[in-house]
Amino acid sequence: MNPYLPDALLASAHHLLAFALAALLFAEWVVAGQPPDRRLVTLLARLDMSYGAVAGLLLLAGGARLLWGAKGWAYYLGSHVFWAKLACFLAIGLLSLKPTLRILRWRRRAEPPASGELQALRGWMMAQLILIPPILLCASLVARGLG
Ligand code: HEM
Repeated sequence: MNPYLPDALLASAHHLLAFALAALLFAEWVVAGQPPDRRLVTLLARLDMSYGAVAGLLLLAGGARLLWGAKGWAYYLGSHVFWAKLACFLAIGLLSLKPTLRILRWRRRAEPPASGELQALRGWMMAQLILIPPILLCASLVARGLG
């Protein structure tokens, strides 16, 4: 077996999950811009649940690359840029708490949210989307030994 195969498989899982994460977050942002009704709340709740699951899997895939990837964990733990990437990921996780808690609350009540409430949530989602390009920049730098 080619010794790089496990690293390549982990890398492709990591990329797939990163694409899925960005797509789900963007879909949530688009859906939250539609006129509010019960159907919209259900759709948002489903998207948000998938988003959480994909974020968890992405963390696992990233952790697996760190531990079992071609470069070894010491390479990453010694990189400031890697820690900056993780800090952005953590910030996305924290920024996602408010939308998740709101959506869960709307799901429990009978009436749909007001447009203003949805708009506020879109701001939290956009803040998360804005953090994705710096993560991609950090990822490319770390992969090439910069920082
Ligand atoms: C939104 C979250 C994330 C995105 C968009 C993302 C994106 C990427 C991309 C595009 C690469 C490939 C870089 C390249 O080869 O040029 C990469 C590599 C990597 N990522 Fe992530 N990542 C994310 C989260 C994480 C997390 C949470 C971890 C660790 C727990 C992690 C660990 C790694 C590792 C170890 C590599 C391999 C770097 C190398 O080739 O040496 N990533 N990531």
